[in-house]
Amino acid sequence: MTWLITGGAGYIGAHIARAMTEAGERAVVYDDLSTGIAERVPDDVPLVVGSTLDGERVARTLAEHSVTGVVHLAAKKQVGESVQKPLHYYRENMEGLRVLLEAVIAAGVPSFVFSSSAAVYGMPDVDLVTEDTPCVPMSPYGETKLAGEWLVRATGRATGLSTAALRYFNVAGAARADLADVGVSNLVPMIFERLTENAPPRIFGDDYPTPDGTCVRDYIHVVDLAEAHVATARALAADPGRELILNIGRGQGVSVREMIDRVNEVTGHDRPPTVTPRRPGDPARVVAAADRIAAELDWKATHDIQDMIASAWEGWVHLHPQAARA
Ligand code: WQD
Repeated sequence: MTWLITGGAGYIGAHIARAMTEAGERAVVYDDLSTGIAERVPDDVPLVVGSTLDGERVARTLAEHSVTGVVHLAAKKQVGESVQKPLHYYRENMEGLRVLLEAVIAAGVPSFVFSSSAAVYGMPDVDLVTEDTPCVPMSPYGETKLAGEWLVRATGRATGLSTAALRYFNVAGAARADLADVGVSNLVPMIFERLTENAPPRIFGDDYPTPDGTCVRDYIHVVDLAEAHVATARALAADPGRELILNIGRGQGVSVREMIDRVNEVTGHDRPPTVTPRRPGDPARVVAAADRIAAELDWKATHDIQDMIASAWEGWVHLHPQAARA
């Protein structure tokens, strides 16, 4: 099999490219390098620079590399930015997907894995979020992921394309320091940034209805996430006409306060956090039920919070050498 990984020069995509080749699959990365980094793409994986909005280039790439499956990650992913720029998000995420799917169907590629998000659930009022929990996205970003799932599923039903939508929970960690997330828009790097500035990590609200009052999330190591893509891709290839929607999480809730304590432990800091007002739109608790992926693919995560924080910190220090001395 040859898998085209769109967005494969990004943080998660590059981990998937690596996991695919380590598992003995062939991979080709397709990325417009708007946020992707060419050096992240493994040496033995070809990189095609292009946008998924460019149907001709996608079609040429599918043909030239004899692609037999697509893993589609290329998309905009900032929740706050999506509220400011909904037209941009719908164009990049929805139109980019539509054009890509057209090329995939025209080329007769049989399998398609779509990168979705726990953002499709919005503010779920349940202890464990199953794939059947109602989807009520709270941002244009989440809307494009949910509508993207619908388009993928409808296309699969109409054409026989095997499809999967993978709903990522909170991704953290790195396989290697140089593959770490370079963005500072999620909790773990935001704690690192504060520690590096010699400032206290911030807790956005401690008056939530949770055991310690801070928000609870389900953190998943990017290496586990990447391996889940390999398992999904293989399952689609082995079973034409398959249609999957799967949560990718560990099924374990960890609070913001617990995460900050763990980061202090792992990095050797001892900085008590400061509490600031709630960040608008944050749900109190979002934790995956991870049973369906275990049943469908016999897959479960193996890396814990310690692995996530330690590997993310190595990547942070690699990029910010001054952090090691902070
Ligand atoms: C986690 C918790 C914050 C920083 C978002 C998207 C989601 C997905 C992952 C793409 C929240 C709190 C954070 C800080 C804090 N993205 N926090 N202090 O909001 O759960 O999910 O990213 O698919 O769609 O919504 O992740 O890492 O931003 O925040 O207290 O300095 O940490 O309020 O409760 P979130 P996050």
